[in-house]
Amino acid sequence: MAEIHRVAVVGAGTMGHGIAYVAALSGYSVALTDAQQEALPRAEARIAQLFARGVERGKVTTADRDAAMARLRVSPSMPDAARDADLVVEAIAERLSDKQALLRELEHVVSERTILASNTSSLPIASLGAATRHPGRVIGMHFFNPVPVMRLVEVVRGPETTDTVVQQSCAFAQSLGKTPIVVRDSPGFATSRLGVVLGLEAIRMLEQGVASAEDIDRAMELGYNHPMGPLRLTDLVGLDVRLAIAEHLHATLGDDTYRPPALLRQLVDAGKLGRKSGEGFYRWEDAR
Ligand code: CAA
Repeated sequence: MAEIHRVAVVGAGTMGHGIAYVAALSGYSVALTDAQQEALPRAEARIAQLFARGVERGKVTTADRDAAMARLRVSPSMPDAARDADLVVEAIAERLSDKQALLRELEHVVSERTILASNTSSLPIASLGAATRHPGRVIGMHFFNPVPVMRLVEVVRGPETTDTVVQQSCAFAQSLGKTPIVVRDSPGFATSRLGVVLGLEAIRMLEQGVASAEDIDRAMELGYNHPMGPLRLTDLVGLDVRLAIAEHLHATLGDDTYRPPALLRQLVDAGKLGRKSGEGFYRWEDAR
């Protein structure tokens, strides 16, 4: 299996732009693409903001910024972005059929040695691999939001994923300054299965009038030293993303713990998706 030099990121939303930024900063040649063309200028602006914040915080030198920016390109065409990639990370919406369709398309474009990684937070890697002719190179590489700051990558090994692909994916995560954990392909992996429980219970507590959103969050921030309470975190992750994960876990684990609360559905139906839409459990001034 060849070494990783060139990375393509498909999906330029909340996660994709962060993954592209971190990979470029870590020395990879990166191409970022999205089927929705309007997502690309938005992602470029967000990446420019990340570079500016990195320099401001003294984490990134201006020379490193310039070199990383030169290594990063945005392309409106998936085949153009992915053609030469040693590793493709897909970070498109959390819908199995869309991800399977993308992987099928990718197989026509990339070389046989290219690793196909999914940033899925809950979908089975087995089902993603089954959509391809070479499931051995399909793996989960689950990043966390905000990608530049969060230190974990959850590497999810499908039933067919080869040892080499697991090793290379872990080495890649480490080269980004992240710590990988390897998790068996099981519903919600390690992080979503645990994290979603707290988020959903907080929403149920809000529905039942146990306390205000601010105070439920303060309970976990001050009482348990979580950096961010579960409702604010749901806003950061995206209410639609959390709902999709909860629905999937409820269906696969069959446990009422994962049944999505009515309030979560109502907010998503009203377009209140959290930070990215400007409002969720809180109002966000710096939406997008
Ligand atoms: N480039 C490089 N480094 C950067 C940077 C940038 N653009 N921006 C910030 N940093 C660095 C900072 O310099 C700082 O470094 P030091 O700790 O060495 O000083 C570090 O990153 C932290 O940055 P901030 O000071 O801005 O962070 P903060 O203390 O204000 O915390 C937070 C913000 C990280 C978001 C924190 O509130 C937090 O951890 N919240 C919880 C986030 C979380 O749980 N995310 C997971 C969500 S679940 C998910 O994503 C998975 C899913 O499937 C849905």
